[in-house]
Amino acid sequence: MQKKTLSDISCKGKRILMRVDFNVPLDLNGTITNDKRIIEALPSIRQVLETGGRLILMSHLGRPKGKVTPELSLAPVARRLSELLDTDVVMANNCIGTEAMQQALALQDGEVMMLENLRFHPEEEKNDPEFARELASMGEIYVNDAFGTAHRAHASTEGICHYVQPSVAGFLIEKELKYLGQALNNPERPFVAILGGAKISGKIDVLENLFNKVDTVLIGGAMIFTFFKAQGLSVGKSLVEDDKVELARHLLQTAKERKIRMLLPEDVIAASEFSGDAETMAVPVGSIPENMMGLDIGPKTIDTFSREILAAKTVVWNGPMGVFEIEPFAKGTIAIAQALADATAKGTISIVGGGDSAAAVMKAGLASGITHISTGGGASLEFLEGKELPGITALND
Ligand code: 3PG
Repeated sequence: MQKKTLSDISCKGKRILMRVDFNVPLDLNGTITNDKRIIEALPSIRQVLETGGRLILMSHLGRPKGKVTPELSLAPVARRLSELLDTDVVMANNCIGTEAMQQALALQDGEVMMLENLRFHPEEEKNDPEFARELASMGEIYVNDAFGTAHRAHASTEGICHYVQPSVAGFLIEKELKYLGQALNNPERPFVAILGGAKISGKIDVLENLFNKVDTVLIGGAMIFTFFKAQGLSVGKSLVEDDKVELARHLLQTAKERKIRMLLPEDVIAASEFSGDAETMAVPVGSIPENMMGLDIGPKTIDTFSREILAAKTVVWNGPMGVFEIEPFAKGTIAIAQALADATAKGTISIVGGGDSAAAVMKAGLASGITHISTGGGASLEFLEGKELPGITALND
């Protein structure tokens, strides 16, 4: 870890301004449906409180586009945090301004408050320097523990570091970088990457970066059909990115030249429509009937992919194998999650990038069987692409 962390600072009696990613899913009643991001921030939060810091938490929630949007208030999150910590969490009704500042100045050692949604102000996403300076003035030390937002150069993640010193990483960022960094830079081999999801366009940079690192890449999700089209196979009504067929051909060629084992499915589950009631059948790739579309990987592919995963020493997974939200097309994704958990039980290091694949592992009830599930969707993807994360770059070395 090249960055200073929470272990390098003394919190006693200081106002610690901590950026967390409490962008958690809410249902229509405003109830939090998954509190993993709050739970994962607890080690840093507890460290500050237990060492006598005065903690001011800030986060975004959703995409309110710079407008005060009551449904996206962080108040329910503050309540959940209060339950988890078993202590009061003071909720401010803004993230800047006199009132929030007075509440921050009134904090005693070991007390915690939560600022209101940063994205109620358009200046947050614009990384406005004046807004960053105002946020910075709330605290005396800045801690960034928002791994999930580290790929955004926003006022609370990047700009703020110019106005408050020291600026250090929290324990969650440290943990994420440890697992993701070790997998990418110093993996135990064989190193297998599993990539899924609908579109090649979102995964090109990941593939190109991983080609330099992995021994084997397993590909699933609807993006396989663009590869199949590039190989001249018929794909029926399956989703294809027609403008990416040439690129798919180039990626297949690159893998071949660099002797990377890039495995595409042998069979898929096809259906006539995108619906839970549709009749399904397993078909070999290249034989999808004209009026059907592929919506999951098939049983032979599940066997092959599972064998590869069980033989690996390091596995990184990003993106579902099929439309796992619809039951008949969830088997492939669940089976991959199961293979990952089985491999982990035998000593493999398994890492799941956030977003959909993390949701799938949780849905399958296998989260505790995985070495590390990232709290970052976009952030872990950008890390796997080899990109710098501005929220981390901005912290003190
Ligand atoms: C996420 O959920 O990936 C992060 O909180 C970032 O959210 P954003 O994509 O709206 O910037």
